[in-house]
Amino acid sequence: MVVVLIGFMGAGKTTVGRLLAARLGLPFVDSDTVIEQRSGRAIKDIFATDGEPYFRELEHQTVTELVCGPDAVISLGGGAVTDERTRTVLRGARVVYLHVGYREAMARVRRDELRPLLKRSDLDELYRQRIPVYQDVSVVAVDTDGRRPDSVVEEIVERLTALPG
Ligand code: S3P
Repeated sequence: MVVVLIGFMGAGKTTVGRLLAARLGLPFVDSDTVIEQRSGRAIKDIFATDGEPYFRELEHQTVTELVCGPDAVISLGGGAVTDERTRTVLRGARVVYLHVGYREAMARVRRDELRPLLKRSDLDELYRQRIPVYQDVSVVAVDTDGRRPDSVVEEIVERLTALPG
């Protein structure tokens, strides 16, 4: 089984993803980590040197490969779903949207200097634009605000089990 976690920065995709993978007995893979390992560069440096469109291309190729690959829990960078081709790849997959409120997301990530998007002055607008996209692409949506990761994991397992097919 391939389970894909999507959501804005700070939604807890990595933390919840690791726990969920352990719970399901699957490997955990983070698309940003794969991109960094393969390119030998930090995401922040790719953004700074080659720009966001170049990063999105690498991200699309990586996500496609992972989603079509062996069973795993896969966490995607928050902007992966902005690429239409990536959205197409995700159709039909078990995509779980981890929802986080904007204030809580910022409280969780604001001191992280490795996230290039935190420099954007229109980040709140970007957040608003992405919410319907996350909702549209996912088959399960789970609220994470004020919740412990293990409680989020239990809800995901229950909801995935209840899915048809
Ligand atoms: C991005 C989110 C980041 C990373 C990159 C761009 C985005 O991943 O892929 O900095 O566009 O929201 P996280 O969501 O894991 O922080």
